[in-house]
Amino acid sequence: MSVSASIYDFIGEHVKKEPVSFHMPGHKGAQFYRRFGYGDFLDRFMDYDITEIAGADNLFQTESTIKEIQERFSELYSCKKSYVLINGTSGGNMAAILASVSKGKQLLMARNSHKSVFNALTLGGIRPVYVYPEIIGKYGISGAVSPLEIEKLIQENPDIQAVILASPNYYGICSDIKTIAEIVHKYNKVLIVDEAHGAHLHFCDVLPPSAIRSGADIVINSTHKTLGSLTQSAALHYNTELVDQYLLEDKLQCIQSTSPSYILMTSMDICSRILEQHHQRLMEEWTGNLNTFYEGIEKIRGLKTMGKMEGLDWTKINLTMRDLGISGSELDNILMEEYGIYTELFTGDWIMAMTGIGNTRYDYDRFADALEDISRKAIASGLIIHNKDNKSNAPAMPKQAVLFEIPVETKRVKLIDSEGMICGSSIIPYPPGIPLICPGERIESDAITYIRAMRDLGEKVIGVNEFDEVIVGK
Ligand SMILES: Cc1ncc(COP(=O)(O)O)c(C=O)c1O
Repeated sequence: MSVSASIYDFIGEHVKKEPVSFHMPGHKGAQFYRRFGYGDFLDRFMDYDITEIAGADNLFQTESTIKEIQERFSELYSCKKSYVLINGTSGGNMAAILASVSKGKQLLMARNSHKSVFNALTLGGIRPVYVYPEIIGKYGISGAVSPLEIEKLIQENPDIQAVILASPNYYGICSDIKTIAEIVHKYNKVLIVDEAHGAHLHFCDVLPPSAIRSGADIVINSTHKTLGSLTQSAALHYNTELVDQYLLEDKLQCIQSTSPSYILMTSMDICSRILEQHHQRLMEEWTGNLNTFYEGIEKIRGLKTMGKMEGLDWTKINLTMRDLGISGSELDNILMEEYGIYTELFTGDWIMAMTGIGNTRYDYDRFADALEDISRKAIASGLIIHNKDNKSNAPAMPKQAVLFEIPVETKRVKLIDSEGMICGSSIIPYPPGIPLICPGERIESDAITYIRAMRDLGEKVIGVNEFDEVIVGK
C-alpha cells in the first residue's frame, strides 16, 4: 500500500475503495446519518462548526441545546446526570478519578487500564493499587477482574478511595460489575467503570448488562466507538451520592478543551435522537446480523471464534485462522489488501473485528465471504491443519509487580540494556493501549523479551523509540 504524506489525500483514496469497516468509529460512514434523515448535517458540515454564539449554549454551563442532549442521554441511560464529552472517554476517565480520589490517596485499578487512567495518577498525585485481570490462557488475552480480589485489596489498603475497571475490555470481555459494585459499596468506596467499548450494552439484553444497570457510580462511554457519534465524542454518566457533582464538573472543565466542537456535540445530539427513537430496532438488526454471521462462518474450515462465550460482548468478533498456518497479522493484512476489509486489531494469532451500530448486512456478508475464500485458498494450496487445540501463540504478558518511586530525573537507554532499571515512562503495546510497564516499575527480562517479540510481529510499542531506546531513571 502506498502511503501518502497528506491525510486529506490518504483518506480520499481510502474512501474511494469503498472499504468495509470493522474498526472504530461505530457509525461506519455517512450512510448511517442519511438513513435517519440527518444528511443536511453532512452536506453542511462546515456550517455546523460554530462557537458559543447566543442560543448555542455552553458546554461548561449548559442551559439550552447542550442541556437537552445531556438530559436525553441521562433519560436513555437512566442515571442522575449525563455529560457530553469532547475529549473522549480519556477525558472522562481522568475527570472521574480526580473527582473521586484525593492527592496522596489510592486508586484501585485494573493493571490493564487505559493510559488515561495512568495519566490521572500523575496529574492528581494519586497512588495506584493494581488488580491483575485473569489471563484467559486458551486465548492468551486478559480477561475479567475477580470480585474476590477487589474485596481483598480494599481490605488490605485502607487508603483506597475509588476503584476503576475497563469493562468490556478491548476484546469484549466484561467483569461482573454487579458483584463488584456491591463489594465496593459495602466499603463505601466509589466504583468508576470505563465502559468506553460498551456504550451499546445498555440497549441490548442479549449482551452482558451495562455498568449503570449493574450499580456503578460513574460510567464513561465512548459513544463514538460502537454507537453513532463522531470520533472523540463520548458521554459520562453520573449516578451516585458518593462523589460531589460540582467537583466532578470542575474536573471536567480542567481536562477538556474550552473550544468544544459543535460538530462533535451535534453528532451527540443526532446519536441520542436516533437511539431514543430507534434503539430497539437497531439493536435487533445488529444482533440479528451478527447471529447470521456467526452461524454462517461456523462451517468454515480452519476458522475458530470465541463465539458467544459467557461474559463476552460478542459484537466484537474475535477469530483466528491459526489452524491454516495464518497468523493474526497475516490475516489482518490479507483481509485488508485482497478484500478491502479493515479490522480493529490483531494480537498473536487472533484478530478482532469491531462491529458497530452502523454495520449493514452487506458488511457481514462480505466479511463471511472473504473468510470462506481465504480458507478455501489456504486448503487448496496444501496448507495442513496443524493445530487442533485452541491455544494462542501470542507471548504471555508478564506481570510487573513491584512499584518504586516514579523517577524524576530520567535518561534514554537501549531496551536491551535496560534490565533491572526503573522505567521512567509507560511502555504500551498498541493496540490495545494497555501499559506493559508503568513509570516506577522495574524493567524485567521477560518484559524485554515480550516487547521484542511484539516488535518482531510488527506491532507498535509506544515508549520504545525508533532507536530501540526507553526512558529510565538516572
Ligand atoms: C479501555 C479504554 N478506555 C478508554 C479509551 C479512550 O477512549 P477515547 O478514545 O474515547 O478517548 C480507550 C481507547 O481505545 C480504551 O480502549
